[in-house]
Formats: sequence, C-alpha cells, structure tokens
Amino acid sequence: MLNREITNAPHVPQWRALLDSRAMVRNPVTVFEKYRATLGHTFTFHFGGIRPTIVSSDPEFIQHVLRTNRDNYEKSDIQVERMVEFQGKGLVNSHGDDWLRRRRLLARGFLPSRLSEQLPIQQDVLRGLLEGFDHAARQGPVDIHQQMVRFTLRLVGKSLFGRSMSDDELELIADTISEIQSFIVRQIVQPYMIPWYRISGLSRQYQRMRIEADNIVLRHIAARRQEGIGESDFLRLMLDTPFHDTGKPMTEDQVRIESLQLMVAGNETSSNALTWIFYLLGRHPKYVSLIREEIAAVIGDDPIGIENLHALHLTLRVVDETLRLYPPFWMIDRIALESDEICGIHIPARVLVVPYIFGTHHNAALWPNPERFDPERFTPARSSDRHRFAYLPFGGGPRLCIGNNMAIVQILLIIATLVRRYDFTPADDSPVNIRPMMLLRPDGPIRLRFRAAA
Ligand code: HEM
Repeated sequence: MLNREITNAPHVPQWRALLDSRAMVRNPVTVFEKYRATLGHTFTFHFGGIRPTIVSSDPEFIQHVLRTNRDNYEKSDIQVERMVEFQGKGLVNSHGDDWLRRRRLLARGFLPSRLSEQLPIQQDVLRGLLEGFDHAARQGPVDIHQQMVRFTLRLVGKSLFGRSMSDDELELIADTISEIQSFIVRQIVQPYMIPWYRISGLSRQYQRMRIEADNIVLRHIAARRQEGIGESDFLRLMLDTPFHDTGKPMTEDQVRIESLQLMVAGNETSSNALTWIFYLLGRHPKYVSLIREEIAAVIGDDPIGIENLHALHLTLRVVDETLRLYPPFWMIDRIALESDEICGIHIPARVLVVPYIFGTHHNAALWPNPERFDPERFTPARSSDRHRFAYLPFGGGPRLCIGNNMAIVQILLIIATLVRRYDFTPADDSPVNIRPMMLLRPDGPIRLRFRAAA
C-alpha cells in the first residue's frame, strides 16, 4: 500500500516521501534535488506523502505541459483552492475563458508604452529611496535582501496604486502577503494538517490579517472613485477599462483581488531576483566593472529610458544567469485533466504535474558545469541551439508571466542606479544557501559593504 507506483517513470517509494515531508517544509528543493540525482529528469512521488505527483526538468516534457497540450493542464487545484480561500479568484488562479478575459484586460497595463510612461515615476521613487540606502551604507554592511524588498515594494506598489498609498500601508500589505504565503505553503506540503489549522483557529487568524490588508486596498479604491481623473496607474486602468465581452469594468471586489494578486506576483519575485543578483555581483566584482563600463558607454549622461535599458546586453546576461541559478519561481504546478503521454511517460488523469524550473536550470545535460556563474552562456552564439524550454524563469506558453517586461525594466533600473553609484564587497565569506518557500529566498541575510564608486 505504501509503495504504489503512479506511472511508468522512476518513483520515490511512498513511505520515503512521507518521511521526507518534514524536510520538504524546511527546504523542498533539497528533497527534489536528491530525487533528481537518483531518479533522473522525470520522476514521480507522493507530495506530502499523499498526493500523486510527476516532476520533470526535461524541457521537452515541460514544453508539452505548458504549450503543446496546455488545455489539458490547468493550474493545480490545491494551489488554486488555497489561494481562493485567502485571496479570492483573479488572473493568477482562474482558468479558460474567465482567465482569458482577465488576461486581455490586465495586459493593457503592461504595454511598452505604459512602461515608458511609468519610468519617470519609478525613477522618482528610486531617488527617494537612495537617501535611506546611503544612510544605511554609511552605518556598515547592508542587508541587501531587506533593501531590495524595500525598493521593489515601493516600485511595484506605486505602479499599482499610484503615489497615494503610504509606505506604512504598503508594508502592512507586503507583510500580510508574506505571512499568508508561508501558511499556504505549509498547507500544500503537509495537507494532512489542514483540518487541525481549521479547528485550532489558525486559519481564522490568517483570514483576519487578510481582511486588514483588503480594507486598505478598498479604501484606496473608494478614494480613487471619488477623485475622478487622476494618476494613470494600474488602479485607474482596472477601475475604468471595460471587459471586451460585457462592456463593463471590474467590480470593486474584482479590483481588490487583482491588485493584491499583482502585488503578490510582482513584489517578492523581483526582490528575490535582485537580492541574488547583488549577491553574485559581490562575489564576481569583475562583472560590476563591466556593467559600469557598459552603462557609461550605452547611457552615459543621457536620461535612462526603456530603449537604452534594453541595450544593456551584458547587464541583461548577468540578470539571465542569476535567474537561471536562482529562479524565484522554482517550480510551477499543474493538474492533468485527462490522461496523456509525454516522452513515453503515461500521465494519469488528475495527477499533479510539476515543471521543475530549478531542476531544469541546473540540469547538466542542458547547462555544462551548471553551478558555475557564467553570464556568457547567454551570448546569442551560445544560446542559439538551446531548447526554448531549457530556460524558463518567467514560465512558458500562454500563462507566461504577464509582468516579465516590467520586472526586467525595474531590475535593470535598480542595477544601473546602484552600480553607477557604489562599489560593493561581501561582508561575510561563507556562501548563502537557498530557503525555498513559494519563492526561492536566501536562507539568512546577505550582507554587503557599499562605498562610493571610485
Ligand atoms: C523576476 C520577477 C518575476 C518572475 C521570476 C516571475 C515569474 C513568473 C512565473 C514563472 C509565472 C508563471 C506561473 C505559472 O505558470 O503557474 C508568472 C506568472 C505571473 N506573473 Fe510573474 N514573475 C516576475 C515578476 C512579475 C511582476 C513584476 C508582475 C506584475 C506586477 C508579475 C505578475 C504575474 C502574473 C499576474 C502572473 C499570472 C499570469 C497568468 O496566469 O496569466 N510577475 N510569473
């Protein structure tokens, strides 16, 4: 009974998966990597010791799930159900036609013209943040994760809600999201604990926190309705733009859900990416000099614009290589609606299917010497033969991250601003480990010493 095979792929015995479920709560990637090392690119196991799951880091397999036969693979019910309970239903956790109409409407907020329009506002926000950063840098080593959370929270927050939302309100929302996410992960990896969370009142405690964050967003929606024409931020777009099918804009509740989902999807992803970028740059100072030279050659004293940010090719390669080594979304989860076959592996209906991004990015068959930081892997010459699903920090297929361009612009803007201004070195020698929750965070502070660039 405790050794059921899920399919014809190599499998982890069910008793082993059950024993590993506690280790999974602490660091699921370590457990997945152990399974990948012994069983290969595609293996099966029981998530939380219970849930039949197929995990793959094979790009051909992943392409089939995310693109070729995508209609058969919906976002998994465990994640969707848990998210609906806490966040309601929005773009991130909807399916089919309902998803498409939301995606069409929200995509308007990510058009290149809107990103260009937002850039001066974002630069203003950054200028405001630099004062605090300078002060912190003068006091001693800076916890770069803490700073990047501060930076991206303000940047994402202001592009969603405009200038009116205060920093305290943004912080309360971000803390609530972070706490709730950890709680959702606990429920996903140890599903047998869910009844206890309900009985003990823990679920209600998290619901109360969520209501507090909701109320802040609702107050801003009400204020914005009264104010009439104002800033052209996301909130305005969501309040004013009609759906193509009904001709009506979103209800207040829909706007609340979508705003919070965009905060969840856009804030911690970028801050974790930036944290790892500065961690790696601190350990590879050659790239700090190269980036600075590139910025001087491409931007010089000109104002920073979308076009010249995108011409920072070497800087972009550093970003790509960091997202390969430390993909903020380390896995994607789907459920197979009907049975299928992928690369000779039978996929039973209702099984959980996991495109394992971290495993794909560390797969030695695709990335020689995969643990080495080597941005030159991303030169056009070395990228041309690569499978298009070998690198997928933003996912793939129609559900590709809607905010990927916005994220890249914000990341480049922050790198350009800080690298122009500072040299930096690690304050501690020992390497920092990963702490994967829903996203891939560092396991502890990453401290860097910043001083004015020579
Ligand atoms: C480095 C930063 C980011 C990374 C690595 C990232 C990664 C991803 C990934 C892997 C997915 C696909 C999930 C799946 O298929 O299940 C996704 C979806 C999504 N992302 Fe991002 N993301 C980033 C930044 C952003 C930003 C800045 C926003 C918006 C403010 C955003 C909004 C979204 C939304 C709304 C979805 C769901 C799209 C849909 O289902 O149609 N992301 N992201």
